Amino acid sequence: AQSIRESLFILNEYARDFFVKTLHEHPEGRAVGMSYFRERGFRDDIIKKFQLGYSPEQRDAFSSGALKAGYQREYLLKSGLAVGEESMLPLTDRFRGRVIFPVHTLSGKVVAFGGRILKKAENTGKYINSPESEIYSKSNELYGIYFAKNAIVKQDRCYLVEGYTDVISMHQAGIENVVASSGTALTHGQIRLIRRFSNNITVLYDGDTAGIKAALRGIDLLLEEGMNVKVVLLPDGEDPDSFARKQNAESFSRYINEHEVDFIRFKTQLLLKEAANDPIKRAGLITDLVQSISVIHNNITRSVYIHDCAALMNVDEKILIREVNKIRLKNI
Ligand code: CTP
Ligand code: MN
Ligand code: MN
Ligand code: MN
Ligand code: MN
Repeated sequence: AQSIRESLFILNEYARDFFVKTLHEHPEGRAVGMSYFRERGFRDDIIKKFQLGYSPEQRDAFSSGALKAGYQREYLLKSGLAVGEESMLPLTDRFRGRVIFPVHTLSGKVVAFGGRILKKAENTGKYINSPESEIYSKSNELYGIYFAKNAIVKQDRCYLVEGYTDVISMHQAGIENVVASSGTALTHGQIRLIRRFSNNITVLYDGDTAGIKAALRGIDLLLEEGMNVKVVLLPDGEDPDSFARKQNAESFSRYINEHEVDFIRFKTQLLLKEAANDPIKRAGLITDLVQSISVIHNNITRSVYIHDCAALMNVDEKILIREVNKIRLKNI
């Protein structure tokens, strides 16, 4: 007999095929879903590669077909593809009138879906996602890892972005070593997934307050996991997708290369603006940098960063060493 997990994978594959087929062949899918992707500038080959789809408006367009095809009600509910009571009431599709982004595991199996509304927010969220299930633990998956892993190894670097469309637009611009944390806080599990392929990561979050805050939060976790962390700050209000669309592939790559800075430099640039002439704020910034450096396990890496930090902040290196060691001793 099939295990629950196997059954859920098979159901997700069936759902993925249904959403893809609907996007390409169903009149509503073509008129609404395909037009949406075209307006966003997604190329056909990219739409196919990422197995993007569309789920019709009709309340049970997916569920009713799946039931007819022999999939059990229990699994439709377990997978989160449908919602409803365990009774005989008809099921309701979770994703209705949305474009669909399948989420793949490292080996290319579909574990979840994200669905985006087409128009500006009604009263529902812009994206809805599959719930956690026997096969889906959000904190251990990274959107795009299946399509990125070879390029991460080849480039020995991984770009980390926030969203589905950032991953897709970067692929379209020829940058394939990219994964998304999908709007949630980065986890140790996700970082370990990346670390199987490279120790070098460049955080490329949205150029807004939320994105910058999330980047700052992610940095210490990445350092703690032994990653070498760089950051690219995008122009205010841009994310990799919107920014890529205003550039060509070449100028987009150039921007990234020219604006990629070490995490210490990123923090310093960002925070020094407000702290420049204020000794108390400067001291606060140094404390913050010392805190980040202290989580780095590797002795050599740590001392290199201490050296850089001392130069950037114009403070005595010996004092920084002492402060870093104080924190490290406290945390043993
Ligand atoms: N996200 C989510 N639910 C929301 C909002 C966001 O799951 N209500 C996740 C999605 O994975 C999304 C990511 O967080 O891709 C980043 O969010 P945001 O920057 O707001 O969306 P974009 O990816 O820029 O989406 P779009 O360009 O389609 O507006
Ligand atoms: Mn955002
Ligand atoms: Mn920890
Ligand atoms: Mn965004
Ligand atoms: Mn966006």
